[in-house]
Amino acid sequence: MSQISIKNTGPLRGEIIPPPDKSISHRSIILSSLAEGKSIIRNFLYAEDPLSTIGAFRQMGVEIEVEGSGARDEGQAIVIIVHGKGLSGLSAPREALDCGNSGTTIRLLCGVLAGQPFSATLKGDASLTRRPMKRVMDPLSQMGAVFKSQNGYLPLTVTGGKLKPINFKSPVASAQIKSAILLAGLYCDGITAVTEPERSRDHTERMLKAAGVNITVDRLTVSVKGKAAIRPFDFTIPNDFSSAAFFMVAGVLVPGSEILIKNVGVNPTRTGLLEILQAMGANIKPENEREISGEPVADLYVKHSGLSGMEIGGDIVPRTIDEFPILCVAAAMAHGPTKITGAKELRVKESDRIATMADALRKMQVTVEELEDGMIIEGGKKLKAASIHSHGDHRIAMSMAIAGLMADGETTILDTDCIATSFPGFTGLLERLQKDHLS
Ligand code: S3P
Repeated sequence: MSQISIKNTGPLRGEIIPPPDKSISHRSIILSSLAEGKSIIRNFLYAEDPLSTIGAFRQMGVEIEVEGSGARDEGQAIVIIVHGKGLSGLSAPREALDCGNSGTTIRLLCGVLAGQPFSATLKGDASLTRRPMKRVMDPLSQMGAVFKSQNGYLPLTVTGGKLKPINFKSPVASAQIKSAILLAGLYCDGITAVTEPERSRDHTERMLKAAGVNITVDRLTVSVKGKAAIRPFDFTIPNDFSSAAFFMVAGVLVPGSEILIKNVGVNPTRTGLLEILQAMGANIKPENEREISGEPVADLYVKHSGLSGMEIGGDIVPRTIDEFPILCVAAAMAHGPTKITGAKELRVKESDRIATMADALRKMQVTVEELEDGMIIEGGKKLKAASIHSHGDHRIAMSMAIAGLMADGETTILDTDCIATSFPGFTGLLERLQKDHLS
């Protein structure tokens, strides 16, 4: 089993470029495949999850070229050319579409497949097979798609067909549910609408708009007008806030650190962690704010500072959803308790992130109380080095590696192959920051 060993070697100093955004990489492949003609996607995340999306569209007859050399294992500077087939140009896959570890691939694909005049089977790895699919099957069935599954779990078969628009009130704030319905809405006559309890990430809406689709947002409701052609595009993907998050927290926690994280996507539907860390007392400043391909981008200047615990809940939760594992590490090092509520969705991520983080932090001697929808973390004690299992969850592996920087001795993270789903260059980048202050 793959593993990494981490110990505190002093301040982290230097400038880093985190990998491209995973959510936007998926969407760029999906929308360009459905566009009519050639699209260019710059700064694509060459990592396992988005490669699952590429693989699925290739299996449905879309020609997708990968350009760019070197640095592939760091997930950077890759240009993708997609020869889009139009909304009705996909062909039936001969074999099951393998979505690997990727919830975004499978749930967004369900939306696209709902509108196809063929059947397709979807499968994934052990973690994806444990994740709920009814959340997209139910609304897409209401629109007219037919699903066969193992009681709402993989493998599942989607038979698409003529769809009718719906007005769906989602019980959870989820960009995957919202996007699946909006993508199916492209195949409907009329207007399909999704209302969420709180706002989730809006990359699908932004990209559809840029591709010429009629999409409107009214508070928590997004509506799309179907049957319009998607314009091919030339799109540059910003770097991933969720990957930058590990270095934001590391820079704040490790004494003497000073890091500049370049070209990070700061879409407000993603930056809950930045607001929370700042409220806890972190010294993180967005600089050089600008827009790239319709998405806000900034460089993040991070400097070591003390943190105080706080209460976290409400509509900031979906805007922080993938950052809770690393936020738990920050909370463990903060002065006083941090209480997280309203985050039940963490139980159905790549692992049950409430249980896996509580367990991992306890191994390092942190006092943690698990709640049904969150946890209470007593911060401020010195962490003890330990051997921690990732449970095959990339964000647990990387978060606990950062925790290892704060421990007395050598921490081992077990089962680290999963890091390649989103951040293949993570260990290299961390080692470089550790060395920079020595050179
Ligand atoms: C994602 C949405 C979120 C997030 C996931 C990526 C997306 O999932 O946790 O990592 O790209 O749409 P949910 O929609 O289940 O909240």
